[in-house]
Amino acid sequence: MDLSFNNAKILVVGGAGFVGSNLVHKLLEENPEQIIIVDNLISSDAANIPSDKRVKFIFGSITNDKILAELPEDLDFAFHLACYHGNQSSIADPMADHENNTLTSLKLFERLKEIKSLKKVVYAAAACAVAEKTYDEPTATTEEQPVTLYHDSPYSISKIIGELYGNYYHQQHGLPFVKARFSNVYGPREILGAGQWRGTQHTVWRNVTPTFIWRALNGESLPLDNGGNASRDFIFVEDMARGLMACALKGAVSGVYNLATGNETSILELAELINEFTNNTAPLDLKPARDWDRSGKRFASTRKAKEELGFESQVSIREGVEKTVAWTIENRELIASRIEKHQKMMSQL
Ligand SMILES: NC(=O)c1ccc[n+]([C@@H]2O[C@H](COP(=O)([O-])OP(=O)(O)OC[C@H]3O[C@@H](n4cnc5c(N)ncnc54)[C@H](O)[C@@H]3O)[C@@H](O)[C@H]2O)c1
Repeated sequence: MDLSFNNAKILVVGGAGFVGSNLVHKLLEENPEQIIIVDNLISSDAANIPSDKRVKFIFGSITNDKILAELPEDLDFAFHLACYHGNQSSIADPMADHENNTLTSLKLFERLKEIKSLKKVVYAAAACAVAEKTYDEPTATTEEQPVTLYHDSPYSISKIIGELYGNYYHQQHGLPFVKARFSNVYGPREILGAGQWRGTQHTVWRNVTPTFIWRALNGESLPLDNGGNASRDFIFVEDMARGLMACALKGAVSGVYNLATGNETSILELAELINEFTNNTAPLDLKPARDWDRSGKRFASTRKAKEELGFESQVSIREGVEKTVAWTIENRELIASRIEKHQKMMSQL
């Protein structure tokens, strides 16, 4: 039977977040009956939640027993995108990571196992928790890549544990679980400084793309460790939203899919593009390699997602960066106010 979101009741945990809110906006185009967002706004902003009568926003943690108990018994789809953002915050506060990352998966799946109407439960897994660290020429990471037991951050451990719990609930209770392994997502609605202070400057400087765009718009030179030779597979957030929807409609239960472009972009190339679209003339700040630099190079294989989901990214890095710069300019005041909120904590670091 072909699945669809038409008249569906959909849960999006973490739906106020960067990727989650873009997913909610895209799902609304598919005529759902209702989208329920559960989010404690720990790393996101209510401005991302669309005002649409089909969207019900529940403010709070998905680990809250009352919220879990009150989820409708006739859900069709669930997307689990909650996490404790990001790697550095989890290193600063592993317990907060446990509470908002590992425990969210366990308690959510424990509740969802009772909801027999669910057709798919899609989990936001992380390719970075799986990818081999390479400093030479990388090869595309496939879904079959063995996973190391040695991780750099509690965040990375939690993302893997989410996969393990989902696999368990599938095997033991028939949860229709699908894993979407994200590569590096960028695009509109990633608000620097969104949410609460999470112990490090990365509360504000969340990821390389929005950070570089903000700095470039302010005429600052972009710092490039090791000459910017680390690389990533950058996927535009609207493509990511389409990929998640494809996982829900076409993904095999218990399957795992990379959602990526299959293209490797160096941080140097990204910085040059950002400077071009922001008209930033400040020269790049090329820094030497550092002993502890562990960023490496990586990109993902897209073959399986293409063959089994019919999913391919559509937005090139050029087009995506251009759109993200335009969104940042339009939302400059909002972003500045969210960054400003953390100034005091930043100055005490
Ligand atoms: N953005 C990326 O490049 C990327 C890469 C790999 C994996 N992921 C995964 O994708 C998902 C979304 O990431 P994002 O970039 O949109 O980050 P985000 O921080 O914008 O979104 C996470 C959302 O989860 C919410 N949240 C946190 N704890 C919660 C809790 N206890 N209960 C309910 N909601 C809670 C946050 O408030 C936020 O809205 C995450 O699971 C992340 O690990 C993202």
